[in-house]
Amino acid sequence: MIILDTPIDMHLHLREGQILKDVLPFSQKQFAAAVIMPNLIPPVDNKERLRNYKEEILENSQDFTPLMNLFMREYSKEELSELKNEIFGIKLYPAGITTNSQNGVKSIENIYPVLEIMSELNIPLSVHGETNGFVLDREREFKSVYEKIAKDFPKLKIIMEHIGTADLLDLLDKYENLYATITLHHLLLTLDEVAGGMLNPHYFCKPILKTPKDKDAIQSFVKKGHKKVMFGSDSAPHTIKNKLKGAAGIFSAPVILPALAEFFGDDIDTFQKFISNNARENFNINVPKKEVRLIQKEWQAPYLVGEIKPMFAGKKFKFMVE
Ligand code: DOR
Ligand code: ZN
Repeated sequence: MIILDTPIDMHLHLREGQILKDVLPFSQKQFAAAVIMPNLIPPVDNKERLRNYKEEILENSQDFTPLMNLFMREYSKEELSELKNEIFGIKLYPAGITTNSQNGVKSIENIYPVLEIMSELNIPLSVHGETNGFVLDREREFKSVYEKIAKDFPKLKIIMEHIGTADLLDLLDKYENLYATITLHHLLLTLDEVAGGMLNPHYFCKPILKTPKDKDAIQSFVKKGHKKVMFGSDSAPHTIKNKLKGAAGIFSAPVILPALAEFFGDDIDTFQKFISNNARENFNINVPKKEVRLIQKEWQAPYLVGEIKPMFAGKKFKFMVE
């Protein structure tokens, strides 16, 4: 048996309404807390929307702490001072780069005043780091933007979300204020899963899955237990109907801990740090303690959750969440 102390998912999409009701139980069962993404329609970018969304999550869960993220816009100091204690951070989406990011940031310079305020108030910045260049180069091309904001705001804690490109890894040792989350899918899959055989829209996500070389580099970084690397699932449910229309996102929530248990094997210590301690220590996250147990019992991932097809649907795992 593996006992995990207070697992935290540093990047989670729960949506609203029926989808939230369908997907939230999987995260609640495996995690003590999660950082909740704000790319709803309309985005979570004001007090009312933030409070109502948090309430909806709390009404549909138990022993689970939603750490709320606001959607980046040009906030005033008054607004952020008032909301500081109700949020984890603010998520920056470049305009139009991914699902529901139409209202995202058109030019990073526009939000420099907000970054200044965040830095002062000690509010972390989460970033979807992609340019609108060639699809496989988008994260690499964003590297200079990460470097610029890391240098211009040395006190601002910046999370490079869902990194899938090996080139970004060296930034973690170069800049004290840069951190990274890594998803289950960028850790275990490559572009071959999307387009190497029959086209598989269920593994289409942003940033797109990359090369075996990228995956191997990310795997060895995670296995080394780098302190600034944290688990963030980016579990992003879409109905099958919307996936077939081309929506980006992989719904990984049902299989996270069983899949990670197989990935880490005997190295429970590194598993524990990746899934919890690194996040808690890097960001002073204080949530009620929750033990999650994985028992050694064959378990099969569901084929369908509501109208959503999960990652690794139907796959058999050696561990089951108790
Ligand atoms: O694949 C993705 N899906 N990437 C994102 O950045 C957004 C997410 C979503 O909300 O569906
Ligand atoms: Zn996301």
